[in-house]
Amino acid sequence: MKICFLMYPWDRIEPETDSTLRLIHEVASRHITVAITTPNSLTIRDSVAYAYCNVLKKSTKVSTSIPSFYKNADFKRCKLPLAGFDAIIMRANPPLDTTALNFLDSVRNDVFIMNDIDGLRIANNKLYPASFSGEAARFIPVTHVSKSQEYLEQVLEESATDQMIMKPLAGYGGQGVIVVEKSASRSFRSLLDFYIGRDQGNYVILQEYVEGASEGDVRILVLNGEPIGAMKRVPSDKDIRSNIHAGGKEVKHVLTKEEKALCKALGPQLVRDGLYLVGLDVINGKLIEVNVLSPGGITRINKLNRVKLQKTIIDFVENVVSTREMVIERKNNFRKVIEDAEVI
Ligand SMILES: Nc1ncnc2c1ncn2[C@@H]1O[C@H](COP(=O)(O)OP(=O)(O)O)[C@@H](O)[C@H]1O
Ligand SMILES: [Mg+2]
Repeated sequence: MKICFLMYPWDRIEPETDSTLRLIHEVASRHITVAITTPNSLTIRDSVAYAYCNVLKKSTKVSTSIPSFYKNADFKRCKLPLAGFDAIIMRANPPLDTTALNFLDSVRNDVFIMNDIDGLRIANNKLYPASFSGEAARFIPVTHVSKSQEYLEQVLEESATDQMIMKPLAGYGGQGVIVVEKSASRSFRSLLDFYIGRDQGNYVILQEYVEGASEGDVRILVLNGEPIGAMKRVPSDKDIRSNIHAGGKEVKHVLTKEEKALCKALGPQLVRDGLYLVGLDVINGKLIEVNVLSPGGITRINKLNRVKLQKTIIDFVENVVSTREMVIERKNNFRKVIEDAEVI
C-alpha cells in the first residue's frame, strides 16, 4: 500500500505535539510506503497530475519514539503520479488551497482522498454548520451571516442577550473571534467596516454567545461518522477563545449524553459529504465549528486518554483501501470470465 500526505512542510512539524506526524509514524510502522508533499509541489505533465514528493526511505528505522522517528527520518525526493497512490491524506493547514483541489480532481476516482475534495469544498468555511437542517439543526447556535452592515447592526440591536460573538466566515485558529456587546456598541460600526472590508470583501458571522464558553469548548474527533476521542479546551482568563493557539489548555473530557446525540445526528451527513475525519468544536452541546482540513488534537487526546488514535484512523484508511481493491479484483475476475467466453 502507498499513502501520500498532502501537508505543510516537514520542517514546520513540532514533533512533540503534531497530529499529522502521529499519522505518518503509524503508516511507516506498518511498512506502508509514505510519501510527503505540499500543495506547492503539485505539477501537471501531459494531463497527468504529479507531485514532487519526499518518500520515506525503506532503510529508515521506525523508532517507537515519535520525536526520534522525526529526527532520523530519511527521504528520497521523487516526482510521482498521484494516481499511483492508494490514499491521499489531506493535512494542509487552513486556509484551503482550492487550486490544489483542482489537481486532485483528476485522480479522485483512482485514489481514496481523506477528506473528499467535494466535502472540503462545501465545508470550507463556517457556513457549513450554519446550513444544517433537520435533526442536526437543534445543535446549531443562532447564527447570522452577512456582508450588510445595516443587517448586522439590526441583529445586535435586536439581540435578546447583551453579548454576541463576531467572527470572520473563513477564519481559523481563533483569529478575529471577538465578543460584541449591545450595551457597548459605539465601536460596532467601525468594527464592521474593518471585518467586512473594502468593496464588501468579507462575510461576517454574528452568533449567539453560547453560555458556558468560559469553562471551555469540547473538541470531538469524528471518524467515519463516529466519535473516536475528545478533550476539553479551557480558555485562559485573559481570552474568550479556547483554541490551543490562543492560550487554551486541554483537559480530559468524557462525552456527555447531549454530545453523543449531536455526533449521532451529524455523523450520517458528514459521511455523505465525504468528511471522514473531522474535528467538531462544541460548547454546551452546541456545535460551533466543523474542522475538516487537517483537524488537530490527536496527540493531546492520546495523552489525556492513554490511547493512540492514529491506529484507529489508519485502520480505517486501510479498510477503505482494501474494500476498493476487492471491488477492482472482483470486476477483473468477471471481465476475465467474459474474455474466456469470447475465446470459446
Ligand atoms: N458562539 C460562541 N459562543 C461562545 N464562544 C465562542 C463562540 N464561537 C466561538 N467561540 C470561542 O472562540 C473559539 C474559536 O471559534 P471558532 O468558531 O471555533 O473559530 P476558529 O475557526 O478560529 O477556531 C471557540 O473555540 C470558542 O472558544
Ligand atoms: Mg475552532
